[in-house]
Amino acid sequence: MMNFKDRSVIVTGGTRGIGRAIGTAFAAAGARVVISGRNGETAAQVASQIDGEVHGLALDVTNADSVQNFFSAALEILEGLDVVVANAGITRDKLVMALKDEDWDEVLDTNLKGAFLCVREAVRPMIRNRSGRIIAVTSVIGLTGNPGQGNYAASKAGLIGLVKSLAQEVASRNITVNAVAPGMIDTDMLADLPEKARQVLIERIPAGRPGTVEEVAGTVLFLASDAASYVTGEVIRVDGGLAC
Ligand code: NAI
Repeated sequence: MMNFKDRSVIVTGGTRGIGRAIGTAFAAAGARVVISGRNGETAAQVASQIDGEVHGLALDVTNADSVQNFFSAALEILEGLDVVVANAGITRDKLVMALKDEDWDEVLDTNLKGAFLCVREAVRPMIRNRSGRIIAVTSVIGLTGNPGQGNYAASKAGLIGLVKSLAQEVASRNITVNAVAPGMIDTDMLADLPEKARQVLIERIPAGRPGTVEEVAGTVLFLASDAASYVTGEVIRVDGGLAC
């Protein structure tokens, strides 16, 4: 059920971290994959380092023209589209009273409007094919909120609203739309924290450790697989119990 041979997959923000692990896992499962990076050369370079059929293209999800160009190029390369993973995201953390307009706009434009623009491009060919899987990478912060992350929490909560609405719109077309909500995942972001701060955060996780990017990728592949054909409008936490 986890065989993606000849399936066409797009992963936005696939040059590092969680997105790269998702692209790598799909390629290892036999899919043809396009990953994006803000810089096309970097995306192509990363794609060439991943085993399997992986292509790298430039994409800025905050720019509607870039999104359109990316999807038309990706669909041509892949000759179709079975799965899209809207993973690109950023943080600009500050207490709400200190947030500047641009901190709010950048995060909402990338995490929420950017995901909307990508999902809108993806769903059209899927509706024509009467088949597709859409998976958004949200965050447990979108479920619980977090001091210092009001803009990020709003963007990720908004993404869950988008997922649940679209799921109901396209369920009759054999398209599922779901979200994964990672908790604290061992990426560059976490590695850069001072050891003490890292330990304080880890103590809050019932599993007693951060998650790995591969654990997030595994849940994304499940949602894209035949095993999840009747799962839609769902948000699956991948957080070691953090937001139980
Ligand atoms: P990362 O910073 O390593 O990767 C983010 C990716 O998004 C990069 O490839 C970057 O180029 C891309 N990106 C950013 N702005 C973009 C734009 N305007 N256009 C196109 N691509 C853009 O971050 P990480 O940790 O891998 O996060 C991936 C996703 O997972 C994000 O949506 C993040 O919010 C979410 N997440 C991460 C968690 C963690 O602990 N690392 C926890 C919960 C959610």
